Amino acid sequence: MRNKEFINQNTEHMNTIRLGDIAPNFTANTTKGRMDYHEWLGENWGMLVSHPADFTPVCTTELGTMANFQNEFDERKIKIAAISVDSLESHFEWIKDIEETQNASVDFPLIADADGTIAGLYGMIHPNADSTMTVRSVFIIAPDKKVKLILTYPAATGRNFDELLRVIDSLQLTEYEMLATPANWKKGDDCVILPSVSNEEATKRFPKGFKTVKPYLRLTPQV
Ligand code: BEZ
Repeated sequence: MRNKEFINQNTEHMNTIRLGDIAPNFTANTTKGRMDYHEWLGENWGMLVSHPADFTPVCTTELGTMANFQNEFDERKIKIAAISVDSLESHFEWIKDIEETQNASVDFPLIADADGTIAGLYGMIHPNADSTMTVRSVFIIAPDKKVKLILTYPAATGRNFDELLRVIDSLQLTEYEMLATPANWKKGDDCVILPSVSNEEATKRFPKGFKTVKPYLRLTPQV
C-alpha cells in the first residue's frame, strides 16, 4: 500500500520541466540494475514514461506495447525506460504478468521510485488528479539531454505508441534534416522546410526540389 504522507514529502515541491530544459539526472534501482540516467542514455535519444501504478490494467497493456515496439525504438536510437512509484520487487512481479498477458518480452528497464523522488523531479504527480499516482507523462530527450517533447495523459487513457513513434520521426527530421512536419503528417509524406533555411540553402540541401506554396510554406519530399 502506498504511503501518501511519505510520497507527499517527496513531491510537494514538484518540479516543472519545459521544452529545451536539460532532463534532470537521477540514480535509481531498475529491473536492469542500478542506473545513472544520463550515463545510461549516453549519446542516444531517450523516452521516459511514467505509469500510475504496477498491476493496473491500462499500464499493463502500455508496457506490453512498448516491449513489442522495442525494435522500432532501437531503429531510432531511442532508449526507453518506464517508471512508477513502486518498489523493484513489485516491478519484477508485475513484469511476469505483462509478459504472460501481452505476449511480450520486457527488455527495457522499469525504474523503482517507491518514495516518489524521481516523480517529483519530473513533475509527474499532479496532486489535484491523484496525490499518490503519477499521471501518464512522456518525456523525449535528445542526445544533448535537452527535453524535446512533453506529453501528459490522464491515468485512465492509454497512450498511442504509433503517435509517439511519429513524433520521434518528426523530432529527428528537425534535428538532422532541417525539416518540420505538417498537420497529420505520416512517415513518407512531404515535409515542411524550416523557415530558418534560405531558398538558396534549400536548393542545395533538398536535391528532390521543393514547392513554394507561399514564401513561408515550402514543401519537399521526406529525406
Ligand atoms: C490503469 O493503468 O489501468 C489505470 C490506473 C489508474 C486509473 C485508471 C486506470
